[in-house]
Amino acid sequence: MSFWSQDNRVPLFVFGLTTGIALSAAVQYLFSSFAPEKTSEAENQLSANNNALTARKQVETASQRLEREFTLSTAMLHNLVKAFIRDMERGLKREGAVMKMIPSYVVRRPTGEEKGTYLALDLGGSNFRVCEVTLKGKGQVRSRQKKFVVSEELKNGTAVALFDFFADCVAQTMEEYNIDKQASLKMGFTFSFPVNQQGLNKGTLYHWTKGFTTSGVVGVDAVQLLQDAFVRKNLKINVTALVNDTVGTLISHAYVDTATIMGVILGTGTNAAYVEKIENITKWTGPKPATGEMIVNMEWGAWGQDGIILPTTEYDVKVDRASPNPQKQSYEKMISGLYLGELVRYVIVDLISTGQLFAGSRCEALEKEHSFDTAHMSRIERDHSMELTDTRSIFEDLYGVKKTTLSDRRLVKRICELVGTRAARLAAIGVASVITKTNKLDGATVAVDGSVFEHYPHFANRMRDALRELLGINADNIVLAQARDGSGQGAALIAALADNGDEKF
Ligand code: BGC
Repeated sequence: MSFWSQDNRVPLFVFGLTTGIALSAAVQYLFSSFAPEKTSEAENQLSANNNALTARKQVETASQRLEREFTLSTAMLHNLVKAFIRDMERGLKREGAVMKMIPSYVVRRPTGEEKGTYLALDLGGSNFRVCEVTLKGKGQVRSRQKKFVVSEELKNGTAVALFDFFADCVAQTMEEYNIDKQASLKMGFTFSFPVNQQGLNKGTLYHWTKGFTTSGVVGVDAVQLLQDAFVRKNLKINVTALVNDTVGTLISHAYVDTATIMGVILGTGTNAAYVEKIENITKWTGPKPATGEMIVNMEWGAWGQDGIILPTTEYDVKVDRASPNPQKQSYEKMISGLYLGELVRYVIVDLISTGQLFAGSRCEALEKEHSFDTAHMSRIERDHSMELTDTRSIFEDLYGVKKTTLSDRRLVKRICELVGTRAARLAAIGVASVITKTNKLDGATVAVDGSVFEHYPHFANRMRDALRELLGINADNIVLAQARDGSGQGAALIAALADNGDEKF
């Protein structure tokens, strides 16, 4: 059974059937993946359901339709967890799986007693940080950092321009912090993109995500690019660790809480890393670490990009098509900050076009791609005033909508709730899957960083609710701990672990 058109680009159900039927078919698919073969009785039932859905669609309101399309029931969550674990296992077994499950070469968690001063670079998305991290032992860290913005021009320019910019930022920070530029310092580099890791300080970029298209980086060792830029700028820094932000977050949180087994980023993009037994990483052919474990960078944002698992809506398809990486990072596009506002924008524009919002009066400002920031969704979800006055000000003052009624504003708020809730519940699927697969139901800490988790209202609680639906009372044993700026510190810590480590790969 396939949901794909022949050229394998467009899910057939998006065009051929109503979205309601699509959703029902997707659910049916999920059940069929884990249940015995469909019987003709089941097919009849599906067809009856579809007819009922089509009939219902004719009488339901916009809000009811969206509710149906964006809601993930408990049963769907359970089935998605099964599919997620199956895809984790595929990634651990072989190269080329949808979820890459990349061995990070990080084989030890810190004890809290590591010491020393290290530099760290942290490229997450639009922000780039240069940090000086001093590990003082007993889980104590002192760090100073400077933040820089990576311009759109650099994101879409050349490798040399981008890495020279990094080296300039490092030189500027060293000057400001009075760090001797001639001293040979060690550095951890957090590079938050899918990297084919070939050693602790070596790895080539598989492909860009989060809106980057910089040329000359894909397939090239990111450490070498950085090291070359340092040579051009006469800096004597030695990059000893190349780290994903999820791995950095896990490691930096483990420095203060040794029960940490997972690092999650819910920000501009999304991903997670966790501690896996080396014997479960069956594709690993390198030496077995004495610890018996290795941190795996899951690259979970790619989950669902094979097109058959996630119950997508027509709006998800629009976001995907307009992105620089269509049919990639499907899970990320339903969860992370770069896309949530865009999803809501597509829903709003659609409802204006059908006359169900703002009396059908066009709003050009909203028709521009990425013109509706996820931060607006946060503001709208936080608007508890009777008249939804802040929501009014967003649309009337910022976007120039002539007049909004209270029911318009309620509908927009409902759209934000639906998109935001679906994102949190999807994120919980990933966490529940790792906890289940690693058998940590009796207790674990999951360190979570990123603007969506930190600032989007109710996100953490919605995730916890979904975890409870999935794991029952065991969910109470799982701590979702807010981690802040851990990725840079984590890179410094990994550089320190590499310094003291007995395992060399
Ligand atoms: C990247 C990951 C990263 C995540 C969070 C994704 O787009 O592929 O490597 O960890 O964003 O920053």
